[in-house]
Amino acid sequence: MERTFIAVKPDGVQRGLVGAIIGRFEAKGYKLLALKALVPTKELASTHYEALSSKPFYGGLVDFICSGPVVAMVWGGGDIVKCARAMIGETSPSASAPGSIRGDYGVEVGRNVIHGSDAVATAEREIALWFGDEGVMEWEPTLNQWVYED
Ligand code: GTP
Ligand code: MG
Repeated sequence: MERTFIAVKPDGVQRGLVGAIIGRFEAKGYKLLALKALVPTKELASTHYEALSSKPFYGGLVDFICSGPVVAMVWGGGDIVKCARAMIGETSPSASAPGSIRGDYGVEVGRNVIHGSDAVATAEREIALWFGDEGVMEWEPTLNQWVYED
């Protein structure tokens, strides 16, 4: 079963959007595999975004991610990496359609509320980085037959 790493960024936590965001993933039919709240260390945030280290906004992005509590999660489900990105919207909230998370809750690219992995391999790297080998469940929701045909 495919997994993805989702994080409510400090702006989303400060603005009280954690419940609404979790509700969207639950209502979609995805299953929660791990969840924790933490203030990320600079090392964790800079490793998470290391592919962007040459970008001019990288320093500000890392400082922002470390500026307060983040709610880090692993979610599982069919085609979840691609579909979660569609639920999240575009990188910039101003380019994100109404109905998407960033389209509904964000205004500026540097305060875009939520992170979602951009590919299956990235998701597994990010899950290992944020959760390691511990704390990620495997379980079968009893409602699976109402979400999946087989
Ligand atoms: P994440 O889910 O956070 O990884 O966003 P993304 O995959 O939609 O975009 P990307 O990985 O390219 O960029 C990571 C984060 O850097 C974005 O979510 C933004 O918060 C920030 N970012 C990207 N582009 C810009 C930019 O042009 N200016 C600023 N200030 N921040 C940016
Ligand atoms: Mg990204």
